[in-house]
Amino acid sequence: ASILILNGPNLNLLGTREPEIYGHESLADVEQLCRTEAAQHGFDVAFEQSNHEGALIDALHNARGVHAGVVFNPGAYTHTSIALADAVSGIQLPVVEVHLSNVHQRESFRHHSYISPVAAAVIVGAGTNGYRLGIAQLAHALTA
Ligand code: DQA
Repeated sequence: ASILILNGPNLNLLGTREPEIYGHESLADVEQLCRTEAAQHGFDVAFEQSNHEGALIDALHNARGVHAGVVFNPGAYTHTSIALADAVSGIQLPVVEVHLSNVHQRESFRHHSYISPVAAAVIVGAGTNGYRLGIAQLAHALTA
């Protein structure tokens, strides 16, 4: 079985983008740690990033029948996108929402998530380890 790791807008800049908030690890580093963590749970990983809302919706739709679940960092679309929330509801796959930063410690516009009410679990503020935790949680839920 496999897990889709999906990253939204600006996460391609990880490592150079506001490192005091998001850390120094790159998205390639995140991909590596995800592959290692998933393998430990017996899962394969597909890794995708897009800056485009529609492409993220397509990636969620295309996960149906291909992946057992999704670890999703929707970036700023978290706080704006009803369409992404509808896609998460619509695909009937468990989706774990991950944010590197503790969004609740930050600006008030980051406190609301359209994704959280439809997510299987939510992990915030754990940095890149959040992806590990997300994979472990999905593996736990899928094999329970
Ligand atoms: C983020 C938090 C969002 O508020 C922000 O827009 C991002 C990254 C995080 O991983 O902490 O792009 O999703």
